[in-house]
Amino acid sequence: MTLSLKLIGYPIEHSMSPWIHNEFLKRSNLEGSYELFEINPDENFENNIEKLKSTSLTGFNVTVPYKQRIMNFLDKVDDTANLMGAVNTVSIKDGEWVGYNTDGQGYLRSLYAAYPFLKGVTDKRVLILGAGGAARGIFHALVQKGYNNIKIANRTLSHAEFIVGTNKDAIVISLEEAINELNQFDLIIQTSAVGMNEPRSIIALDNINEETVVSDIVYQPLETHFLQLAKQRTPYIHYGHTMLLYQAQAAFEIWTGTHVNVSDMDMQIEQILK
Ligand code: ATR
Repeated sequence: MTLSLKLIGYPIEHSMSPWIHNEFLKRSNLEGSYELFEINPDENFENNIEKLKSTSLTGFNVTVPYKQRIMNFLDKVDDTANLMGAVNTVSIKDGEWVGYNTDGQGYLRSLYAAYPFLKGVTDKRVLILGAGGAARGIFHALVQKGYNNIKIANRTLSHAEFIVGTNKDAIVISLEEAINELNQFDLIIQTSAVGMNEPRSIIALDNINEETVVSDIVYQPLETHFLQLAKQRTPYIHYGHTMLLYQAQAAFEIWTGTHVNVSDMDMQIEQILK
């Protein structure tokens, strides 16, 4: 059987996903293709989805700005994606469209691949910076894993409060409070767009511990200003492009049932993104 996979979103012409999934197809000896299906926000979204419905597809990824909107066109949404309020992977079986979200899982898989000593240790004190869609996915993935000591710091407190909801194991703080408490965290995760294509950091990182693990999910540039600041204090740096790779690994598993070994692929992605 030939697999037909796609990515919908806008703009996506520079996306790494076709390269990643075509590499997965090769590595797993599966026949198929992964192609871009760009939908300009000026176009009619529904008509484009109808077009997709009329083709023979195995599944597709969904990226910005359609991760919420696609949910109206699905037959089923799995629990994790429902919790996250967003879908990044759709699988099609017997004509039924089922939505998943592999972003949070991708984050955790990439974190554990970089620092295996974190696996299974859920009593870490975690700080999430930012409260957009990415923060929401990561927060719920952490909660599902059993992390129960999480703070979310954001410029707009109500956005962070929305993510935390009724969860008793998480606390919302301001960015100023986060700056003052930085030495009290074992894992700091930068999820805001600050630093994307700009040499800027959401906060200064003057007082983090030398054993703190610091993630930035931004990967353009590969090493953000935030990670450069972190690197002056700790050797435990976790790069955003690895999350991209592992959320793709999880999506490919949903479509094909095949687990692809990706441990050497982050270096190739680094070369491409450089
Ligand atoms: P995504 O869905 O991709 O995670 P988003 O919804 O645009 O992105 O969220 C971006 C995050 O970056 C938000 O937490 C936003 O803060 P607000 O909730 O206060 O808007 C944060 N952010 C963006 N620009 C910022 C800036 N200049 N300073 C601080 N936070 C910023």
